[in-house]
Amino acid sequence: MVETMKIATERVKKSRISEVDFSNIPFGKIYTDHMFMADYKNGEWKNFRIMPYGYMPISPATPALHYGQAIFEGMKAYKNPEGEALVFRPLDNWKRLNISGERLCMPPLPEELFMESLSALIDLDRAWIPDTAGASLYIRPFIFSADEYIGIKPSDDFTFMIILCPVGSYYSTPVKVRIETHYTRAAQGGTGYAKAGGNYAAAIYPAKLAQAKGYHQLLWTDGKNHEYIEESGTMNVMFVIDGTLVTPALSDSILAGITRDSVLQLARKWGMKVEERKISVKELIEGIESGKVTEVFGAGTAATIAHIELIGYNDKDYYLPPVEQRTFSNKVYAELEGIKRGQKPDPFGWIVKM
Ligand code: COI
Repeated sequence: MVETMKIATERVKKSRISEVDFSNIPFGKIYTDHMFMADYKNGEWKNFRIMPYGYMPISPATPALHYGQAIFEGMKAYKNPEGEALVFRPLDNWKRLNISGERLCMPPLPEELFMESLSALIDLDRAWIPDTAGASLYIRPFIFSADEYIGIKPSDDFTFMIILCPVGSYYSTPVKVRIETHYTRAAQGGTGYAKAGGNYAAAIYPAKLAQAKGYHQLLWTDGKNHEYIEESGTMNVMFVIDGTLVTPALSDSILAGITRDSVLQLARKWGMKVEERKISVKELIEGIESGKVTEVFGAGTAATIAHIELIGYNDKDYYLPPVEQRTFSNKVYAELEGIKRGQKPDPFGWIVKM
């Protein structure tokens, strides 16, 4: 448990906020003034502190650097018309962080530590939450093993941190993806369902090969036979087929996306038929060719709802219907944006004000 949640705070002498052009924010390159840090040592979380965002000393023998013993989360905060910070589903991210942590042999992070550190950090850097359309404050909590030991074993020491980043869109245009049938993101029994840094590291090379051919991302398939669609590199993937919302059922090789879950909940509330099941590459390609597949989109925190414009498979590009015709994904995007920004009712209690 957390001994006492007292956070030692060292504020910046001078904020950097005036250097930021909020009308043109890239994704993931600008950081707010402060960051949060806590240590896990001798079986407890301690040394809660907020300090100026910046470089930090780290042992060269840290296992996170050698073996990728690191996990993370992605969340977003928005500003409502009253200027309050609205954080979208943070408790779901907290739960998933601990699911990832268990797989990576990390100690659980108490809810109180997660929520209070988040709230204190957001409070301090509240002015950095953009209120421009399409922009938000991206929140990156992460845990890495911090032993000074290069043998392989479950670590004893860990560091938990939160950094904040005003962001614009992750994808600025509809996305082109290629179905990957050689490389594998996650195998059965692996860490695919965990938000482990290593999953992303292993995906960079295959994605780079696709990017060299003009695609933005991959559409990963199962590691066994490359027969079924799993997810895309930075988001879950969803399809409207004959009016039904279809998405790959969760498994140990698919990340349980919180945006994915939000889309499913909204679709069910609207009375749409929803199927979480296996979807084969064959079904997808035939469905695009016959016109049954009317919408394909990614769902993720960073990506939000990202229209997929075309799918490459076996050296052929399959085009999807124009974005303007995509009734469901445009509606769900608008609904989610409205809820996140406090402009629409929040029937599921997703928003936490900080
Ligand atoms: C997120 O959507 O929060 C992610 O973690 C994707 C990331 C790799 C940018």
